[in-house]
Amino acid sequence: MDFLSVSGNTKLNGTIEVSGAKNSALPLITSTILAKNLVNISNIPNVVDIRTLLKLLKNLGSEFEFNNNLLKIDSSKIHHTKANYEIIKTMRASILVLGPLLARFRKCEVSLPGGCAIGERPVDLHIKALKQMGAEIDIRGGYIVAEAKKGLKGCEIVFDKITVTGSENIIMAAALSKGNTKIINIAKEPEVIQLCNVLQNAGVDINGIGTDEITIYGTSGELVEFSEIEVIPDRIEAGTYLCAGAITNSNLTLKKVNSSHLSAVLSKLKEMGFGIIENENEIKLIEARKINPVEIITSEYPAFPTDMQAQFMALATQAEGTSIIEERLFENRFMHTSELRRLGASIKTNGKVATIDGGNKLIGAEVMATDLRASSALVLAGLVADGVTDIHRIYHLDRGYEKLEDKLSSIGAKITRGKK
Ligand code: UD1
Repeated sequence: MDFLSVSGNTKLNGTIEVSGAKNSALPLITSTILAKNLVNISNIPNVVDIRTLLKLLKNLGSEFEFNNNLLKIDSSKIHHTKANYEIIKTMRASILVLGPLLARFRKCEVSLPGGCAIGERPVDLHIKALKQMGAEIDIRGGYIVAEAKKGLKGCEIVFDKITVTGSENIIMAAALSKGNTKIINIAKEPEVIQLCNVLQNAGVDINGIGTDEITIYGTSGELVEFSEIEVIPDRIEAGTYLCAGAITNSNLTLKKVNSSHLSAVLSKLKEMGFGIIENENEIKLIEARKINPVEIITSEYPAFPTDMQAQFMALATQAEGTSIIEERLFENRFMHTSELRRLGASIKTNGKVATIDGGNKLIGAEVMATDLRASSALVLAGLVADGVTDIHRIYHLDRGYEKLEDKLSSIGAKITRGKK
């Protein structure tokens, strides 16, 4: 199995180009199930989650080429409507085929994703909303078996909780429904907004994009014609590299980034004492005179993202004082704390709250990645630890970070990949 070896205590310096957002590319790829034409999507990160989803679409009948971050995909050829457990169990986001398959074929079977390392993560809200749109849904043999004999019907849906992939599934389902669907308490993440914009460019009328309440005027089952798409920059990858600069207290420039998607993260870095200069498609991080402790509460966009929580916990180990992080979205997203403690960090957790006493010198050790973002937090900690930190189970990291070792090496990090 691959592992990463990081030699710590080096200052970083230079420029990193940010890749396209995995979490935007995933729904954009499944949205092509609604397209009547071959669709070109550029700036797709070449990471395992994307390749897993493409494997699923290939099983369903899509034809595509994926080279140099450009995907040319024709999903009009889809003829199977069963998304198998073998793929869904490796990637929960494959649930994003549920809405578009049901809208187009009026029936589908999609394996019910299980829990995962960061929490239970049910999909009850996706199912409830589709039932409101007229689908009959049973859980049989571990599959969501869904049918809407007369097609999905527009209606008013109020999400009890804000859900990102739930919102995306219902947006795609509504695009091909009969009549209007009003979705209240919809997620406002930039990835959700890009999906709405793409569907709108394809001729689906959508009102209220970017607000809590949107209305989608469905096409009554008619497939739509997509234009070319460019995936937005990955705000979580960008945030992770900013933390790499911050934890080593270095100067760093990010290119091909959208700073408006990173307001909560940039504001916390400023509170911690770092300088931030925002230019068009570019962010510069300036080293701090002193790294201040921070208080963070994770919540839905535009608040501080749960996907940046682990990286800021690693960074907080270098602050002069005590930081507090409250995780409000997932019930089990502190798995990285025990691994950070193996490096010498002083972290206490109590339910949803972690208290980090900064200032302990970290010392390299063997650690194990537990989920995608936790893995990157361990890499960050390795960058400041004395000696060598070996990070195992980095298949988690490969799910979502494109060329991480190359990008970090290019700014001076000592990081290599090995096999054990
Ligand atoms: C997406 C992101 C993930 C990010 C998360 C929160 C993708 C592919 N993944 O995951 O990186 O960490 O948003 O920003 O975009 N919930 C329910 N019932 C449901 C759906 C969700 O109770 O039917 C709960 C979840 O358990 C969680 C909360 O709602 O506590 C938010 O989850 P959700 O926004 O759905 O996360 P994902 O879309 O799975």
